[in-house]
Amino acid sequence: MNKIIGTLLIAFISTVSLNCYSESDVESLSPELRALLKQEMLAIQEGMKNIVPAFASGNLKEVSGIAGKISKSFILKQKITDTQKHELHQKLPKAFILKDKEFHKYAGMLEHVSEKGHTELVGFYYSKLLESCIGCHSEHASHRFPTLINEPAKGTHHH
Ligand code: HEC
Repeated sequence: MNKIIGTLLIAFISTVSLNCYSESDVESLSPELRALLKQEMLAIQEGMKNIVPAFASGNLKEVSGIAGKISKSFILKQKITDTQKHELHQKLPKAFILKDKEFHKYAGMLEHVSEKGHTELVGFYYSKLLESCIGCHSEHASHRFPTLINEPAKGTHHH
């Protein structure tokens, strides 16, 4: 009996640790693509920060402008070669691409509702965007943010 539990435990533990280390997909990208990805991340973060004073002062037009820039900042839409596009699709798991799409979709929604002046929805989509950061980082960037390793991912979650 104890043997069975022991075997199950070992099987369980090795599955868990496999999951923890499977995010090296991003680390396997070429230096050029990783540089672009980082650039995009820093731009997104800057946009998220700038939205706060714009929103707080009731400048929804500016919120809309910033959200529009975030929504169009797809790394896949950057000036990259076809070979690099192929590399992204080959090395990044489908779950990553889906999370990225979802993130940009929320940014598009934020652009839209702030343009229309729907203040309460602006707060809603802003929080959706924030959740997306954690949702993707905990699964695909824990090499960069080790404290997120045990954070349950939100949104599209496939295991
Ligand atoms: C679809 C996935 C995904 C989403 C969504 C995402 N990130 Fe990231 N982010 C990454 C990955 C992957 C890395 C690590 C890149 C690397 O190691 O090369 C990263 C790294 C970063 C970094 C570190 C850049 C550096 O200099 O090393 C910052 C800052 C960042 N993200 C901010 C954000 C913010 C803020 C949000 C949400 C508003 C966000 N990210 C949403 C995938 C994502």
